[in-house]
Amino acid sequence: MYVLLSAAMSIDGYLDDGSPDRLVLSGPEDLDRVDAVRASVDAILVGAGTVRADDPRLLVRSADRRAARIASGLPENPIKVALTRGDIDPGRAFFTAGPAEKIVYGPAALRDSLGELATVVDLDDLGAILADLSARGVRRLMVEGGGAVHTQFLSAGLVDELQLVVAPFFVGEAEAPRFVRPARFPYTALNRLRLEATEQIGDCALLTYRTERG
Ligand SMILES: NC(=O)c1ccc[n+]([C@@H]2O[C@H](COP(=O)([O-])OP(=O)(O)OC[C@H]3O[C@@H](n4cnc5c(N)ncnc54)[C@H](OP(=O)(O)O)[C@@H]3O)[C@@H](O)[C@H]2O)c1
Repeated sequence: MYVLLSAAMSIDGYLDDGSPDRLVLSGPEDLDRVDAVRASVDAILVGAGTVRADDPRLLVRSADRRAARIASGLPENPIKVALTRGDIDPGRAFFTAGPAEKIVYGPAALRDSLGELATVVDLDDLGAILADLSARGVRRLMVEGGGAVHTQFLSAGLVDELQLVVAPFFVGEAEAPRFVRPARFPYTALNRLRLEATEQIGDCALLTYRTERG
């Protein structure tokens, strides 16, 4: 399975600030680019922290892109995938905004609270989760955060492509969520990621990296 990790961060590496409101990092042009990427994948995966903090809909916004997916025999929207080891609120847009198939990798007890809203699969190992998604027909997966999820995918060497948008400002708050947390990453000064492309999008920079896996 091809795994594409997409994130936007400040110059000092933050995904968000400490305020309850979602931090706007990029602009409309980049959001449209991300929408095109969403339209190109079979599934979009986020951690429960992102579901709680941002309440994302994780749908393809463009009607033309949804129509193109349907015309090529795909579901209107990619499968939404969330990871949790605890609880997840069934009132979140992850569950209520649709139409889209939803899968939650989390404790089996979640089946009681989620009912028909999502398929619950009791797995937390990323390798096993990717194998399960693959068995469900997912060939292209987009990982959309947050920091804990990025850290696991990147440190486990499970990412083929990294699309990183750098927004031209600083957050500078010690407690705000960072792009990744401290971990042992396979990509070091001696084993670097391959920078494939750089692009200016509005006032942001899009850096596209490939790993050896990809
Ligand atoms: N700028 C961007 O591109 C971007 C994108 C996405 C998110 N964000 C920001 O990132 C922040 C959230 O990041 P975060 O690091 O706090 O949270 P996160 O990575 O979204 O989610 C972490 C949570 O996911 C669950 N989880 C992670 N790995 C798991 C595994 N292997 N198996 C089962 N469950 C697993 C756990 O949920 P439980 O706690 O429920 O057990 C964990 O606490 C928010 O501020 C959001 O705004 C920014």
